[in-house]
Amino acid sequence: MSPTPLDQLDLPEFPMPGPEIRGEAWHEMMDGIIEESAESDVWLARNPIATLVADREAGEFFLRSRSARFPGEYLYEAFGITEGPLHEQIHHNLLNTEGDSHRRLRGLVNPSLTPKAVEKYRPGIRGFLAELWDRLGGATEFDFVEAIAKPLPALTIARVMGAPPEDAPKLWDWSNWIQQQFDPVALADPGVLETIQGKVVEFHDWIRPMVAAKRGNPGDDMVTELIAAEEEGEKLTDVELENLVLNVLVGGVDTTQSQLSHIVRLLALNPDQWQALREDPETLVPRAVEEGIRYEPITPFTARMLTEEVEYRDVLFPEGTPLIICAYTANRDPAVFPDPGEFDITKDPAGTRTLTFGAGIHYCAGTNLAKLELNEALTFLADRVDSFEIAAEPAYASPVGIYGIDSLELRITPAQVPA
Ligand code: HEM
Repeated sequence: MSPTPLDQLDLPEFPMPGPEIRGEAWHEMMDGIIEESAESDVWLARNPIATLVADREAGEFFLRSRSARFPGEYLYEAFGITEGPLHEQIHHNLLNTEGDSHRRLRGLVNPSLTPKAVEKYRPGIRGFLAELWDRLGGATEFDFVEAIAKPLPALTIARVMGAPPEDAPKLWDWSNWIQQQFDPVALADPGVLETIQGKVVEFHDWIRPMVAAKRGNPGDDMVTELIAAEEEGEKLTDVELENLVLNVLVGGVDTTQSQLSHIVRLLALNPDQWQALREDPETLVPRAVEEGIRYEPITPFTARMLTEEVEYRDVLFPEGTPLIICAYTANRDPAVFPDPGEFDITKDPAGTRTLTFGAGIHYCAGTNLAKLELNEALTFLADRVDSFEIAAEPAYASPVGIYGIDSLELRITPAQVPA
């Protein structure tokens, strides 16, 4: 039997979530797609710009396919970003790089981000948490995002780069602006585009002297490691090095901030699970991190463009097909995850794999650092918070892009600290 061309399939409609789709409405919309897929046994859905890939196995197939690439270059051509500092960044961005160049860059950066390599940042992360907690001055009602989730990843990245903690707010600002290079709505606004260009220049002006200083005076940080790193006898050029560090900065701040905010929100909504976690943090903190990453992926969508025709599961996908790979639906695939609609931190995640960090050659370079921060944050809170609840409706960001929370007001009952 010959495969059916994609455009001849009768597929459910998938409307891209508008600005009003957040929080509960977001879950209702996506759970609706999951139900529809289960009833009609289809794993694809269609919207005017792309085809959504809903199940875990198919999502992973396309993320791992050599015939699919991140559509960054197409997006920037469409917005006329063909020169200037942002273009330079985009050109060097790992997500837009393929083949040997990508292999070489990952080969240079990966050793700095292995589970063993990131261990050295653990004491620093603990110190930042203690400092941020002290700043609350014993308050029992506060915005968790502002107090902890937002500053922690920026302080951590400052430490990773070997920059002073005072620079963390600057790093947060650059990361958040430059991250918008992936947001077509933001790029369409000439004012936003101009600001992003300016922020890229500011970042390079800031890091250049730091790299020069570390050449003469090495530190215990990633910039120093990248200066020394060699892949098959080849070192990074200065431009590559600066862009790689910018890549880590852009990938590593609002992502971890958003994931931490959502995990804490989910635990606040499940007080019995919080109590269980406090009783057995060694087992349940890592499981809570994995379950939070599965249940509320802050990267619910990523995109791919097919660079050649692909046949998969008796469907013919033509060259140039734009795809949306959906981690939200993939992470609720009943073929992979038991009781996928339930948030349950007691589940053992062994043997299951989510798509929250992607898959294949572009699998998130910062997974180990992100998980270290998330685990440390929950362990820290478990020692200090007896119980907690959400004091006001959270302010959700849009799930298109990084699905963050702008504010999460918590009311806590502090734990009795032994004398
Ligand atoms: C919970 C936190 C995080 C999540 C959910 C996340 C998610 C992702 C995803 C889904 C991708 C792949 C996108 C695609 O293939 O289209 C990715 C790539 C990447 N991430 Fe993360 N990320 C997180 C934290 C971090 C951190 C802390 C860093 C830096 C230390 C980082 C650096 C990167 C880089 C450099 C890439 C590009 C990799 C490549 O193209 O080879 N991420 N991330």
